[in-house]
Amino acid sequence: MQNTTLARQDATSFPLLDDIVVLADAAMRAGDPARIVDRLTVGLRGLLAGHDEALPAWLLDGAPEGYVRRELYRSRSRGYQIVAITWAPGQGSPVHDHGDTWGIEALLRGRLEVVDYRVVARHRALAELRPAASHTLEPGTVIGLLPPHDLHACRNASARETAVSLHIYGRALDAVKRYAQVGDALYRPQRIRLAVVD
Ligand SMILES: [Fe+2]
Repeated sequence: MQNTTLARQDATSFPLLDDIVVLADAAMRAGDPARIVDRLTVGLRGLLAGHDEALPAWLLDGAPEGYVRRELYRSRSRGYQIVAITWAPGQGSPVHDHGDTWGIEALLRGRLEVVDYRVVARHRALAELRPAASHTLEPGTVIGLLPPHDLHACRNASARETAVSLHIYGRALDAVKRYAQVGDALYRPQRIRLAVVD
């Protein structure tokens, strides 16, 4: 699955960004990842509940080869990163984790299926994974991901509607560990660098 990260300057017109940055700066003062994720989850739910402006058109621009990542903001002082992902109908991510970084996933538009996985056994270099839970994200839904329990895959199951999600990571997510399926429930972990174009 290809993905593309677009330049930050494309993102300057995202209407909620200033409020999200204020919220994230305040949440980061909690220090502990679990408390940061809690604060951000609750705060972002509140922000999104009171927001009904249409998304800017550039945020709906997908790509046929795979979902599109756009970096909206990166905090120089606190290190966190805010990314929007545009999922065309049917597009999804492989099973992956975020290394050692906490994450927040919120849905802005459309619908996104998120399946959580757990490792049930290891066979040399391969991991046996089983789905553990699934969530349907609708606009305004916010979930938190805390390592080491953060193996997941996302998919826009709609045949017609583009989905847009917003992600906040504790540090810039330049690489993730992906799990390529090689057998029934067997996966090979691979560290993948995410493309960044600035
Ligand atoms: Fe993810």
